[in-house]
Amino acid sequence: MRDKNSVSNIIRVALGVCLVCAVVVSTVAVTLRPMQQENRAAFRQLNVLQAAGIYEPGIDVADAFQRVERRIVNFDTGEYVDEPPGGFDPVRAARDPAQSRTLSGDPAGIGRRANYGEVFLARGEDGRLTRLILPVHAYGLWSTMFAFLALEPDLKTVAGISFFEHGETPGLGGEIDNPRWQESWVGKRVRDDDGDMVFRVDRGPTPEGVPDAEHRVDGLSGATITARGVENMVRFWLGEKGYGPYLQNLERRIRIGEEI
Ligand SMILES: Cc1cc2nc3c(=O)[nH]c(=O)nc-3n(C[C@H](O)[C@H](O)[C@H](O)COP(=O)(O)O)c2cc1C
Repeated sequence: MRDKNSVSNIIRVALGVCLVCAVVVSTVAVTLRPMQQENRAAFRQLNVLQAAGIYEPGIDVADAFQRVERRIVNFDTGEYVDEPPGGFDPVRAARDPAQSRTLSGDPAGIGRRANYGEVFLARGEDGRLTRLILPVHAYGLWSTMFAFLALEPDLKTVAGISFFEHGETPGLGGEIDNPRWQESWVGKRVRDDDGDMVFRVDRGPTPEGVPDAEHRVDGLSGATITARGVENMVRFWLGEKGYGPYLQNLERRIRIGEEI
C-alpha cells in the first residue's frame, strides 16, 4: 500500500490542490472580466452625468447617457478626429508610446499625455450645448486622481466636478470625494475673459471677501499636497498642452455663430 505521508504523496496532493485552485481562480477571473469592464464603463458614465449635474438617483444611467455625445479630440490641433477603427481607449493610448508623448513640463505629474482625448457634450432638447465634460487626471500625494470636469457653455465656468478614481487617504486627500467640497466648485470661473488660467485651490479656506474668490476653491485641511495636485490638474488640462487648443477652437466657433 502507498504511504499517504510520503514526501512524494504530499507533493502530489499539494500540486493537485494548486492546480485546482489555479483553474478555479483563472476561470472566475476570465468569466468576470467582461462584467467588470461593463461595470467600469457604467461607473464612468455615471460620473460624467454627475459632473454635468444631470444625474438623479434612480435614473437609468445608460439611458440618460444616450443624450451625451462622445467625441475624440486631437489635443495639438484642437480639432475633432474620427474614432479609430477598433475604438479609442484613452487609458491605453496614454500608455502606448505610439499614441502618446512624454511631457517635458509636467505639473500634473502624469509623465505622458495621449495624442487624442475624449470629450463629452451634453445637449438640451433643442440640441444646444448645455455642458462640456472633460476627463482630467493628475498625480496627488499617493496616486493618479481621475476626474470629470464639466464646464458651462461659456467654457469658463465650472458646472461640476466628479472624482471617480484615486488612492488618496480617506479623510485627508480622499476628501476630494466630499460632495460638499465638489459642490463648492460649481460657478467658479476657471478661465478669465482672455481664456487665461485663473483657477486656484487655496491652502485652507478661501479668505472672506477676497476680490478673486470666484476663481478659488477652499483647500483640503491636512491634504495640501493632494489639493496642489488638483489645482495642477485643472491648470494643466485647460492649458495649452491639454484642452486649451480645443477650447479656443470652440470659442472661435461660438464667436462666429457656428453650432458647437
Ligand atoms: C498616513 C498619512 C496619510 C496622508 N495622506 C495624505 C493625503 O492623502 N494627501 C495629502 O495631501 N496629505 C496627506 N498626508 C499629509 C502629508 O504628508 C502632508 O503633511 C500634508 O499634505 C500637508 O498638508 P497641510 O499643510 O494641509 O497639513 C498624509 C499624512 C499621513 C501621515
